[in-house]
Amino acid sequence: MLEDRIKCKELREKIITADEAAMFFKTGMNVGTSGFTPAGYPKAVPLALAKRRKRGDKIEMTLMTGASVGDELDGTLSRAGIIKRRYPYQTNSFCRNNINSSQIEYCDMHLGSFPQWIKYDFMGHIDIALVEAIAIREDGGIIPSTSVGNSNIYIEKAEKVVIELNISQPLELEGIHDIYSPDNPPFRKEIPIYKSGDRIGTTYIPCNPNKIVGIVITDIKDANNELAPIDNVSTRMAENLIDFLDNEVKCKRLPENLLPLQSGVGSVANAVLAGLVSSKYENLTVYSEVLQDAVLDLIDCGKVDMASATSLTLSKERIEDFYNNIKKYKEKIILRPQEISNNSEIIRRLGVIGINTAIEVDLYGNVNSSNVLGSRIINGIGGSGDFARNSYLSIFVTQTTAKNGDISCIVPMVSHCDHTEHDVQVIVTEQGVADLRGLSPKERAKTIIENCTYGEYKEMLKDYYNRSLSECKYKHIPHLIGESLSWHKRFSETGTMKIIF
Ligand code: COA
Repeated sequence: MLEDRIKCKELREKIITADEAAMFFKTGMNVGTSGFTPAGYPKAVPLALAKRRKRGDKIEMTLMTGASVGDELDGTLSRAGIIKRRYPYQTNSFCRNNINSSQIEYCDMHLGSFPQWIKYDFMGHIDIALVEAIAIREDGGIIPSTSVGNSNIYIEKAEKVVIELNISQPLELEGIHDIYSPDNPPFRKEIPIYKSGDRIGTTYIPCNPNKIVGIVITDIKDANNELAPIDNVSTRMAENLIDFLDNEVKCKRLPENLLPLQSGVGSVANAVLAGLVSSKYENLTVYSEVLQDAVLDLIDCGKVDMASATSLTLSKERIEDFYNNIKKYKEKIILRPQEISNNSEIIRRLGVIGINTAIEVDLYGNVNSSNVLGSRIINGIGGSGDFARNSYLSIFVTQTTAKNGDISCIVPMVSHCDHTEHDVQVIVTEQGVADLRGLSPKERAKTIIENCTYGEYKEMLKDYYNRSLSECKYKHIPHLIGESLSWHKRFSETGTMKIIF
């Protein structure tokens, strides 16, 4: 019944088609949408916008989301050439190609600080907030669906609000969200979350009903998160990580039920967390930005008591399980705005164990999460920096090689640095664990080579390290800069080469 979904009679009069809603969007606008991973993002209006573009209407806009979103938004609008500027994170192959080929200006940002930038007006005026909802309250309050992301902030800041009321999302989702928005400095107080299960806000996003200019009814489902099957390499990474955690517990640096876990996006992160299903750990908690399939598995086997995030990033099969058992899961899951899920104050207070995936790691512990060969973007830094910088333990996992063994993921010097040596404590590969805490650069290099590499690449890295050590006896961080950074090479008229530094 529509009356159950739109409680306010006057707002029911604002129901329009997706094509009508698409007419609100003008070229040059800044548009903020819901969505964090392929969950809870608008679908019908972006599809209608692409149709408008196909008919010849010029529409170019800045798209701001929570994080990555499904193909109906990033893919369709990239293919149609509608996105000209994109913040703060994406994972869509069409969007990525347009970024790498300079058709989209992309500013890849920490997901925890981007919402603040909008609140501080650093990102300019928000013309339209386009958000998916399951229902609208009598007072205009909007109940989000499978993610919260930045929806609360876009709704607060935007001039106009367009809602996609998605009837494929069950009404029973109501109650899972906890919406809270800290005041801007100098009025900000502490955010009173002391456990991952603490609720501090409302179950809906407050919204002035006069701002709502259109409500589009849709039933297009979330695209869902497709994960690669858990393979031997991921299983070994998980075993190595759990051995490391076991030792931390044994040494009393972690409690018996660990501390709240955060796990990044992607197949590797999911596989590593799934390794905990067969571990001895009980009464675990999660304080993360995404909840992938492994977290539902951990809830099902009774190992996770409470999980907090901003998005339900589930596969097609697991989202069905979630919907079928929504009452059970709602007791153990909270979805918050990303300003809160990725908030440095809370991450540090709770003592989160941050587990993120690296594209490559260098001998001294610097991590590249985003740009291959220093220049080709894959996704972005996402929330990894929010967690790596503030976690109790900052762990990065990576396979030792990528592209069927053609590339080593442990390299002499990362070609792009997202996480510096100062924010990276532990490296886990399928070969072993490098615990870098308190180690000098030279000690870090030896530990990483010894514990995390193997075979031909191990020998090559040893050779690089030994040669750089003998050529840089009086250097804190031995490097053969000429081999890694030719930019600093200068040749004199007589042909002698020197490195400028
Ligand atoms: N050199 C070149 N390419 C590499 C590489 C390397 N050293 N390591 C990985 N890749 C490529 C893979 O081949 C793959 O490419 P493909 O899509 O063309 O096949 C791609 O990167 C993704 O790697 P994959 O092994 O499938 O891992 P994943 O799905 O676990 O993703 C990251 C890994 C690093 C890309 C992903 O975790 C990410 O975007 N992280 C940054 C954001 C983040 O951490 N967010 C979470 C915070 S909560």
